[in-house]
Amino acid sequence: PEPLKVLGKRKGLHVGNAIGGRYFRDSGYKALMARECDMLVAENEGKWKALEPRPGEYHFEPADEMYAWAKSQGMLVRGHNLIWQDAKWLPKWVNEYDFGAQPVQAAEALLRKHIVTVCDHFGGAIHSYDVVNEAVDPKTGALRTNVFTERLGAVEQIDLAFRVAREHAPKAQLVYNDYMRPDDGSKKHREGVLKLLHDLKSRGTPVQALGLQSHIGSWDDLGGAKQQQVWRKFLDEVTGMGLDLLVTEFDVNDRKLPGDVAVRDAGVAVLAKDYLDVTFSYPQCRDFLMWGMADNVSWLQGWKEAPRTDGLAMRPTPFDEQMRAKPLRDAIA
Ligand code: G3I
Repeated sequence: PEPLKVLGKRKGLHVGNAIGGRYFRDSGYKALMARECDMLVAENEGKWKALEPRPGEYHFEPADEMYAWAKSQGMLVRGHNLIWQDAKWLPKWVNEYDFGAQPVQAAEALLRKHIVTVCDHFGGAIHSYDVVNEAVDPKTGALRTNVFTERLGAVEQIDLAFRVAREHAPKAQLVYNDYMRPDDGSKKHREGVLKLLHDLKSRGTPVQALGLQSHIGSWDDLGGAKQQQVWRKFLDEVTGMGLDLLVTEFDVNDRKLPGDVAVRDAGVAVLAKDYLDVTFSYPQCRDFLMWGMADNVSWLQGWKEAPRTDGLAMRPTPFDEQMRAKPLRDAIA
């Protein structure tokens, strides 16, 4: 079959994958990615925690090495991410930072320093940045708080991050990335994201696109026409603000599908097709990135919050652990 990147090119779509440090050492997996993809994102190596685990101590090498490989393969690179709004995923030292007698100035200075250092280091290597990741609390739709928002204000802090990124990555696409989904349980999340985007647009914040993480799958209501309608309404509103769309972290959580492999793989493919038919119908959507391409590499295998109750391994990606194509691969194609 024709590689996904070839099929994508015909539609004006880039096809990418998130690769983690461990599988970056696996030549077979890298070959699969090089065959199918023309875009790369580092699964963890571009995060603040990884880049600056202790203040002033930078670890750029793992990301540099991945981006250099991407370049050698003719792939574009996405940067993930400059600010992860959830305090849980900020470096510990940032959460414990002493902001001193002028906390507003100090918070702005620390945020600026991080974004400037990262953008200046990677320079033109980055085609597109997730400037802010997951700022909306899915349960309430309100903005999450952290050491920066507490001192600068939540919308103000997000706005600042985009402005600093714009100055120091003048050519990169600037993206707000989040995991709102089409199902009923995600209603507050979608509403919160829409509100945030409206607020940013009305401030003139240089946000250019919404990253649809697209960790789809086994939620309370599984796929179907109703979800397609809800999703279309959401995407209409986003694109109505003049924003582009990207699928940034695609995989399909199969925990509510039956254990039987053939039945499960077929169910996963149907869920994907329902979702992607709507999403790809928007000409504003020009990038499709998977969050892992083979089942064994998926973060979902280790996600303890919502495992399969039968203890079977998840099958969330287009290829199995032997890197054989699954029905999901056909659905994406
Ligand atoms: O590499 C260390 C290892 O040395 C250590 O022994 C081990 C002990 O826990 O941890 C390893 O690091 C783990 C890392 O993944 C690499 O496997 C971290 O603990 C673990 O927290 C980290 O999880 C990542 C998670 O983001 C948090 O950063 C997942 O791989 C990654 O897939 C996931 O990706 C997120 C996106 O960034 C944002 N959207 C949701 C998506 C899925 O949760």
